[in-house]
Amino acid sequence: MLTRYKKNHEKIAMGLLSFMPKEKDVKQLMATIKSYENDENQKLFLWKEDDDFIGIIGVRLLGNNKCQVQHICVSPSHRNQGVGHKIVEHLHRIYPAYDFSGNEDVTEFYDKCINLSKR
Ligand SMILES: CC(C)(COP(=O)(O)OP(=O)(O)OC[C@H]1O[C@@H](n2cnc3c(N)ncnc32)[C@H](O)[C@@H]1OP(=O)(O)O)[C@@H](O)C(=O)NCCC(=O)NCCS
Repeated sequence: MLTRYKKNHEKIAMGLLSFMPKEKDVKQLMATIKSYENDENQKLFLWKEDDDFIGIIGVRLLGNNKCQVQHICVSPSHRNQGVGHKIVEHLHRIYPAYDFSGNEDVTEFYDKCINLSKR
């Protein structure tokens, strides 16, 4: 299930976000987490299975009911089992009235999820 990020998730969230190619630097990661904590238009969710947080997705609400996915990561030991697709599907359920897109950092995977759901 998708759970809204809370301050006590900071370490696990940073660990998961660090799998994004642009989030390798600790200073960058800290800045990213702070911007999710402080900007009410940016929302971060963790994916929990069997009591473990194994995935993360971060979005920016852009106005006009538009929502851009900025980050998506799954822990390496849980990849290629459909978790990434499930995270995207559940995000869409959280914001049913929104028009989604992926930013340049996630577009390759996000577009794949969207194309599959249209088939
Ligand atoms: C991208 C990511 C979230 C996918 O998570 P996952 O749980 O393994 O995804 P799923 O199991 O739902 O889907 C697996 C499919 O996505 C594909 N995929 C994995 N990474 C991909 C990428 N960067 N771009 C496009 N497709 C990708 C796999 O090849 C697989 O394809 P197949 O179904 O045709 O075999 C995960 O690989 C990850 O955390 N990567 C590091 C972070 C990252 O680079 N995020 C941005 C990706 S653009």
